[in-house]
Amino acid sequence: MRTHYCGAVSAADIGNTVTLCGWAHRRRDHGGVIFIDLRDREGLMQVVIDPDTPAAFKLAEDVRAEFVLRIEGLVRPRPAGTENPNMSTGMVELLTKKLEVLNPSLTPPFQIDDDTLNENIRLQYRYLDLRREPMQKNLRLRYRVSKIMRDYLDANGFIEVETPMLTRSTPEGARDYLVPSRVHDGMFYALPQSPQLFKQLLMVAGVDRYFQITRCFRDEDLRADRQPEFTQVDLETSFMDEAAIMDLAEGMIRDMMKQAQDIVLPAAFPRMSHAEAMNKYGSDKPDLRVTLEIVDVGDAMRDVAFKVFSGPANDPKGRVAALRIPGGGALTRSEIDGYTEFVKIYGARGLAYIKVNDVSQLNETGLQSPIVKNLSEAALRAVMERTGAQNGDLIFFGADKARVVNDALGALRLKIGHEKGHVDGRAWAPLWVIDFPMFEYNEDENRWDALHHPFTAPKDGHEAYLASDPGKTLSRAYDMVLNGWEVGGGSVRIHQEAVQEKVFAALNIDEAERREKFGFLLDALQYGAPPHGGLAFGLDRLVTLMAGADSIRDVIAFPKTQRASCLMTNAPNVVDEKQLRELHIRLRNVNPADKAA
Ligand code: AMO
Ligand code: AMP
Repeated sequence: MRTHYCGAVSAADIGNTVTLCGWAHRRRDHGGVIFIDLRDREGLMQVVIDPDTPAAFKLAEDVRAEFVLRIEGLVRPRPAGTENPNMSTGMVELLTKKLEVLNPSLTPPFQIDDDTLNENIRLQYRYLDLRREPMQKNLRLRYRVSKIMRDYLDANGFIEVETPMLTRSTPEGARDYLVPSRVHDGMFYALPQSPQLFKQLLMVAGVDRYFQITRCFRDEDLRADRQPEFTQVDLETSFMDEAAIMDLAEGMIRDMMKQAQDIVLPAAFPRMSHAEAMNKYGSDKPDLRVTLEIVDVGDAMRDVAFKVFSGPANDPKGRVAALRIPGGGALTRSEIDGYTEFVKIYGARGLAYIKVNDVSQLNETGLQSPIVKNLSEAALRAVMERTGAQNGDLIFFGADKARVVNDALGALRLKIGHEKGHVDGRAWAPLWVIDFPMFEYNEDENRWDALHHPFTAPKDGHEAYLASDPGKTLSRAYDMVLNGWEVGGGSVRIHQEAVQEKVFAALNIDEAERREKFGFLLDALQYGAPPHGGLAFGLDRLVTLMAGADSIRDVIAFPKTQRASCLMTNAPNVVDEKQLRELHIRLRNVNPADKAA
């Protein structure tokens, strides 16, 4: 069919006859000569059809955008002055000898290189959207990244083992996607939220080093960094502690980024406790490129007249914290109003602030703000000292439940940091977050939930807190964070049944439920389970960051929308009555046909 890819023709081919296949990217009529930019996955080639080849010329007159063509011709230099240095093939053109239309095309709903398109139209015609160069690049980058990681793991003695897709619920904190069973009336499989339990069982099975690049399914609220089905680079090892696992995983990411895109990451990623990350950055996945930091001022606010501050300062679950914006005195009223609206998304009820005009005067002259009169001089001094305030700065405050303050100031830190350039200039800022609490309190349901998952081991010396003070128990979990994205996470697991039982007890999972849901794991732990641990990387997120894309949808060939639907195939969709009957399902409330219409 062809001798070259369009984008691979070069000056070295001048004088040769080549045959290209591809899509008509653009066609221009230039006074008797027709130009077609022919496109394939490797790039564009300018094709010239002149009336001296009447058969080709006649066909070319009817060629329209996205027609599939096969063209044989002579590679020649472009006429002086018409070269295009921005194209890899910009020095040459193809003088057509023979042209074949392999397939015409309907007029596409958009021009292939239009980069201002609405995402819905792109997703509806994804096969056209994927013809665009940036999307082709992303697909290839994704392939390269997973290939390099696969090779790395292979070289380190890991073997890939497939685990079931039709399985039981694996608790990773999201809702399950369920698959009804035809054979077992009223029963359902769950699609795996991760291979977590199977990979632990593979360690009991003596596999020693397992990996899998595999799809995981989670029915959760979708955002730019979340899809209902996504891909993990999942691994598990026996007889390695967290330090060794983190070194190995860090080595893999460092090598991968270097090989795939010549990105150089620091030799040793910094490690930060979860508590420090929350205190300074209001987040368990801090973007360390942003230089702004949050500081606690609660202890200085206990006795102030301003109730908005003294209330949370005296509440054990409360937090009062300050975020200094260097030079922030220049923020306009409407910018501040905008930020006040912004933090409300995170549940904040307001955004108090002080403009620092003269830090030497701790009163309404030096500090411009309606709240100053209700704060003591001692409280103001503490704020100025701890934030390191300078004249011309502005200090924002959050006062509420700690969770609200962290969410609000954490998000505000990122927003102002990026908008106002409070960044350190690094392209890549990786770190490990460690020393996570084992549990977080679920206020709605009045119980403890596992912060990572219930198979994570408690930190040495913390096992005793499982029964006495679950909130104090730290775990042997670790997350890798890159530029504010959680790209991977894992832990050393519980390998002793007695400890696993204690964790289930702390989670208030009773005997019967333990046996019913996790009996197979509890049994397996009693047949010589080795100490083991591992982690999983989010492949989609890694590739998104490396591609500089805004959303993981840009690195997934056929992603779902925020509402978890596929606009191209119209999934999910109704099924016919016969199928439902076979699956023993009767729908409640809705007439599916009405709903589809
Ligand atoms: P975790 O739940 O942290 O750990 O998931 C591992 C990594 O997967 C990515 N990720 C996602 N990516 C896209 N869309 C989603 N909805 C989504 N959810 C998670 C993240 C995350 O860091 N079994 C454990 C791992 C282990 O302990 O070994 C697990 O699944 O990048
Ligand atoms: P008020 O006393 O309600 O007029 O609030 C005075 C200032 O405190 C305003 O700038 C509010 O935006 C701010 N504010 C109110 N509630 C909070 C809160 N929970 N955290 C931080 N600032 C707040």
